[in-house]
Amino acid sequence: MSKIITVFGATGHQGGSVIRTILNDPELSKEFKIRGITRDASKPEAQALAKQGVEITTADMNSKDSLRQALQGSHSVFLVTTPAWGTAGSDAELVHGKNVADVAQESGVEHLIFSSLLHVTETSAGRLTHVPHFDHKAEVEAYIRSLGVPATFVLPGYFMTNYTMIGLLRKGENGVWTLAYPVGQDAKFPLIDISADMGKYVSASLKNRSGTLGTQLLGAEDYYTPTRILEEFEQVTGHKTQFVQVDPDTYKSFIPGPMGQEMLENHLFIESPGYFNGKSLQEAKDLVGKAGYELTSWREFLERNRGLFV
Ligand SMILES: NC(=O)c1ccc[n+]([C@@H]2O[C@H](COP(=O)([O-])OP(=O)(O)OC[C@H]3O[C@@H](n4cnc5c(N)ncnc54)[C@H](OP(=O)(O)O)[C@@H]3O)[C@@H](O)[C@H]2O)c1
Repeated sequence: MSKIITVFGATGHQGGSVIRTILNDPELSKEFKIRGITRDASKPEAQALAKQGVEITTADMNSKDSLRQALQGSHSVFLVTTPAWGTAGSDAELVHGKNVADVAQESGVEHLIFSSLLHVTETSAGRLTHVPHFDHKAEVEAYIRSLGVPATFVLPGYFMTNYTMIGLLRKGENGVWTLAYPVGQDAKFPLIDISADMGKYVSASLKNRSGTLGTQLLGAEDYYTPTRILEEFEQVTGHKTQFVQVDPDTYKSFIPGPMGQEMLENHLFIESPGYFNGKSLQEAKDLVGKAGYELTSWREFLERNRGLFV
């Protein structure tokens, strides 16, 4: 009988990627039956998954009772949490992650794969203390470890879709595309095509459970500086670009509310000590390669999404 993998965020980018990768993998699609979690099973995204044979189950990470139902009989679980963006002081993400961890322990889950990030406050030795969407994920990771739930942590890099979906690359009236950051041109951004590649890290871990338990897989195809991001953008699209380093107050004025400080410090962290604290991506890339997958480069992402930059 196939094992059940329960996937949180099934209707979103990360969970959706995990589901697609498993369904398209000849080995994993036989080994696992997928249960996709949503708060609203009537959503078109949930309906589309049901048509592909995914068992859709309704649950809310705020409710442990709903989680007990959702995790019943699950061998593996993929967990992604999201912050209550814009709500200053919210610990919703921490509560969600701990709720799932508690229920995973109660339910005897054998492999929890959590989408984690580094602890910015600790990693920056207290210099940057306003990036809760990183800190809370790291705190959930620490909590999972403290419970002893068998787990692997996939830390996704900086989404390539930040340049398409939230318009970080903007076309000016003179036709020049501008990238404005509060950091220098040599900062290293570990880029990931989240929809295409998150599932590859998770699936590589499913294929090598014992070898990845307790480890952190750093999820990015490569480190890219703003210089390289723009050079490859120009080569693929033929558009002219410019990089502008803005001062912290100007940068914050782009993003009103508490998000301004959070995003500023998030980028200062990327510049120093580094999104992954200077660590190499090679180990996780090798694991993904051995599992039979190829990661998406920034150039390939641009070629596929050329039509969005007009
Ligand atoms: N942008 C970046 O560069 C970057 C880099 C690294 C990490 N991240 C992190 O990535 C995460 C976002 O991932 P994503 O893009 O996959 O998110 P997404 O596409 O917005 O999907 C979020 C999913 O979470 C589900 N969800 C939300 N609240 C829930 C709750 N209370 N109970 C159960 N399910 C719930 C939603 O399902 P339903 O609505 O169907 O219930 C949805 O499927 C954020 O935490 C962000 O910090 C972002």
